[in-house]
Amino acid sequence: MIAVIDFGSQYTQLIARRFRELGVYSEIYPPNVKYSFLNEKGVKGIVLSGGPNSVYNTELELDNEIFNGDIPILGICFGFQLMAKFLGGEVKKGEKGEFGLTRIKIVKESVLFEGLEKEEKVWMSHHDVVTRLPEDFVVTAISENGFIAGAQSLEKPFFAVQFHPEVSHTEKGQLIIENFAFKICGAEKNWNLGRFVEEKIEEIRKQIGENRVLLAVSGGVDSTTLAVLLQRAVGDKLTAIFVDHGLLRMGEKEEVTEVLKRLGVNLVVVDAEERFLEKLKGVVDPEEKRKIIGHEFVEVFKEEAKKRGPFKFLAQGTLYPDVIESAASHTGMAAKIKTHHNVGGLPEELGFELIEPFRYLFKDEVRRIAEILGLPENIIKRQPFPGPGLAVRILGEVTRDKLELLRKADCILMEEIKKWEKYDEIWQSFAVLLPIKTVGVKGDFRSYEYVIALRVVKSEDGMTANFVEVPYEILGRIARRITNEVSGINRVVYDLTDKPPATIEWE
Ligand code: XMP
Repeated sequence: MIAVIDFGSQYTQLIARRFRELGVYSEIYPPNVKYSFLNEKGVKGIVLSGGPNSVYNTELELDNEIFNGDIPILGICFGFQLMAKFLGGEVKKGEKGEFGLTRIKIVKESVLFEGLEKEEKVWMSHHDVVTRLPEDFVVTAISENGFIAGAQSLEKPFFAVQFHPEVSHTEKGQLIIENFAFKICGAEKNWNLGRFVEEKIEEIRKQIGENRVLLAVSGGVDSTTLAVLLQRAVGDKLTAIFVDHGLLRMGEKEEVTEVLKRLGVNLVVVDAEERFLEKLKGVVDPEEKRKIIGHEFVEVFKEEAKKRGPFKFLAQGTLYPDVIESAASHTGMAAKIKTHHNVGGLPEELGFELIEPFRYLFKDEVRRIAEILGLPENIIKRQPFPGPGLAVRILGEVTRDKLELLRKADCILMEEIKKWEKYDEIWQSFAVLLPIKTVGVKGDFRSYEYVIALRVVKSEDGMTANFVEVPYEILGRIARRITNEVSGINRVVYDLTDKPPATIEWE
């Protein structure tokens, strides 16, 4: 296993994923992790990640033993500077730093750089620079701006790069990660998702035994994949509950239930539309809507659990990034804060024992598991959909009529955008119903109807996003179809804002 110590870089998770892509298992640890702990775990290599701080004004509880041991280390960016400082080198604030694509020259042969040319293009993002290396270190690469871009110890298997090999813009980045994993650490290729699935099924079967397990499914890829995995493990000892809060997209309930039933999942569909809409009557404040929906969801779920129980276990589709994020927020190294509540997140007071089989998986790994388990493409490639559903895409009060309008408009947008050759690059594409009416002309008559906004964004993880430059031809076709086919809408606009400053959803 390769341990990545996280100093708060936005790329930390990417480092771990790069190793896993090579078949080498990798986990992320906070800066105060003990060397003895890593050693006992049989860690083959340690990566010190980048980070937003400066080494000279950050107090770190890094365990010095890491540098006294023999486990190979790769320091990246801040990790390099940290290693340099800890081992007696010097780090200074650079005058201009280096950002984006930069050329480096390899000035000394190094196992880390095997297979690279003498000159390479790499991705840099740093202000501070290492100005003096520790005594036993030599320079292995220099940037076009004259800074140290690579270094290594002559005594220990300690390596460092100032650039980011984990970022795809670093052309030979994956080769550097590969050299570190196999040539330097001697790591084994033992991370295999097919085997993971088989082992998890066995493990879950043993853990659940003769008991029963409950799961809330939303139709998203995580909970749907988990439902199928649990079905394979324990069959009908699983009860999966799908709460239809009436805020789903067109055909969504049918699509999800059809797939789950076909794959043999013991599924209960609770039709709770009436209840949710009643509670949402007259509510216009976005946070209030979220609170009501979250609360009502837990109520429905509790009632069903009681009716169909007893259950000893509750399964949840928690993913590794959530685990890392909450750990990072405890150590104070996290730069990101997430405030959404997912309606699928259930309170602890329900009193179940939790099972979270995806706790150490990244989203793309869950998608691969979905493939292994035979889920269809429309589920595997599903765009994220917020727990509170269309309620946060109808600005102002949610009514049955407005839901009807939005569903139709959203369905047209999806139909048209799916035909676009770049559809796979989109993170989310959806319609929003605005709470205003504008004047228009339909046939020979004046109309006074609602406005639909279209939102199409690209994103890595939903934390930041860019609007997508969808060709006018497609946007025009969507607008024409919506205004022609959805009575009640006479105007369509396109949202050209990135996140930040806007958010992806409008509420
Ligand atoms: P924002 O609007 O904050 O959304 O830029 C970022 C991502 O999160 C989704 N989202 C939610 N997901 N419960 C969820 O489960 C929520 O309350 C919620 N609000 C936003 C949103 O669709 C986007 O993918």
